[in-house]
Amino acid sequence: MEGIISIATILITASLFTIAAALKEGQTCVANKFCDSGLHCETCVADGNTRPRCTRIRPSNPTSPVNNLPFNRYSWVTTHNAYARMQVKSTTGSVIVSPRNQQDTVTDQLNNGIRGLMLDMYDFENDIWLCHSFGGRCYNYTAFQPAINVLKEVQTFMEANPSEIVTIIIEDYVSSPNGLTKVFDAAGLRKYWFPASRMPKNGGNWPIVDDMVQKNQRLLVFTSIASKEASEGIAYQWRYMVENQYGDGGMKAGFCPNRVESPSMNTTSRSLVLVNYFPTMPDLTKACKHNSAPLISMVNTCYKAAGKRWPNFIAVDFYKRSDGGGAPAAVDMANGHLVCGCNSITSCKANMTFGSCDVPEPGIAPIPAARDTSFAHFGSRSPHQWWWFGTVLLILPWV
Ligand SMILES: *[C@@H]1O[C@H](CO)[C@@H](O)[C@H](O)[C@H]1NC(C)=O
Ligand SMILES: *[C@@H]1O[C@H](CO)[C@@H](O)[C@H](O)[C@H]1NC(C)=O
Ligand SMILES: *[C@@H]1O[C@H](CO)[C@@H](O)[C@H](O)[C@H]1NC(C)=O
Repeated sequence: MEGIISIATILITASLFTIAAALKEGQTCVANKFCDSGLHCETCVADGNTRPRCTRIRPSNPTSPVNNLPFNRYSWVTTHNAYARMQVKSTTGSVIVSPRNQQDTVTDQLNNGIRGLMLDMYDFENDIWLCHSFGGRCYNYTAFQPAINVLKEVQTFMEANPSEIVTIIIEDYVSSPNGLTKVFDAAGLRKYWFPASRMPKNGGNWPIVDDMVQKNQRLLVFTSIASKEASEGIAYQWRYMVENQYGDGGMKAGFCPNRVESPSMNTTSRSLVLVNYFPTMPDLTKACKHNSAPLISMVNTCYKAAGKRWPNFIAVDFYKRSDGGGAPAAVDMANGHLVCGCNSITSCKANMTFGSCDVPEPGIAPIPAARDTSFAHFGSRSPHQWWWFGTVLLILPWV
């Protein structure tokens, strides 16, 4: 009897383990740990989906199939106000009144494949701080933390991941002399610096990503202050990049106007394209909806507006939230087109001819109806899980 019970225990445990390790994108879940890696468990009530499903939080790495293309032939999920995390207090001790744009730390973002970080930097407390503020000044109640903390997180990630390339886009309010230079140096990021002198000035191709990795020039930093390119060697963003309007003005379906500071989207003397897609006031509830079909649609609209160029950076709020594939799926789509001419990077293979997609395009897992019963839920399990389920049924009457 004892033996039978422990066999049943083992089988049930194994069955639970199989479920824990196996839930795929779109399948019903009860907690993050039951979803495959790169997925988490959530609903999208804003889109009418109350059934918790495993949804994507991580894009496919575009350089693992093909690493011999110029940097401008890849696309990256970018976090708008990467530092403005929910729940945290200011390290000044003050309560922060500023809106929040993300749910997790920059370290977690990097580990989930985020490779573009938008950071707002200010002079504050005789140092450089990350603040979500207004009027060009930082206050205790808009100050998140000293920039060096987050830059050190980036340093740790880059040290541990020697073939990853990270881009930092600074909304720059720093006027202290060499303020940015000092904080990047102090964070140990100088050794990864991609020099502005190597950035293409007239719409040419960027260096090959593998060459950037070999030279350890893996950190791209852009500032919104033009004069810092001459004074500190920090690239002026809109000399190299076009960018669409951010906030509500950038969310009108079918339109992709340029941000005022940016040349128009179709300016091909800028090799990089950035697509923003987030509302003026961050909205955690609606983010799952925004980051899904409307985002894919805007990426297509901006592709046309940018003179048939897919975005290199796709910037969103609450990047983990989606009603389907989310920002990771949008970036996989852009990478598929950029890297091999297919609809998703997952179709790209080493050495394949551009556009010769010989494998079926992977679709997003079918989403069962909202009134999904627990029985229908079993129907979405893999044959392997059915096997365990059947075995447990056979054992039980015997016990
Ligand atoms: C702001 O925070 C600093 C600590 O960083 C503190 O010394 C100062 O008193 C605070 N100011 C106000 C007005 O709370
Ligand atoms: C580029 O876009 C602007 C609008 O931003 C438009 O006025 C102009 O005609 C476009 N140029 C070309 C060559 O398509
Ligand atoms: C791709 O081509 C390169 C050089 O022609 C070769 O060294 C490499 O093994 C090829 N890779 C694959 C996966 O076929």
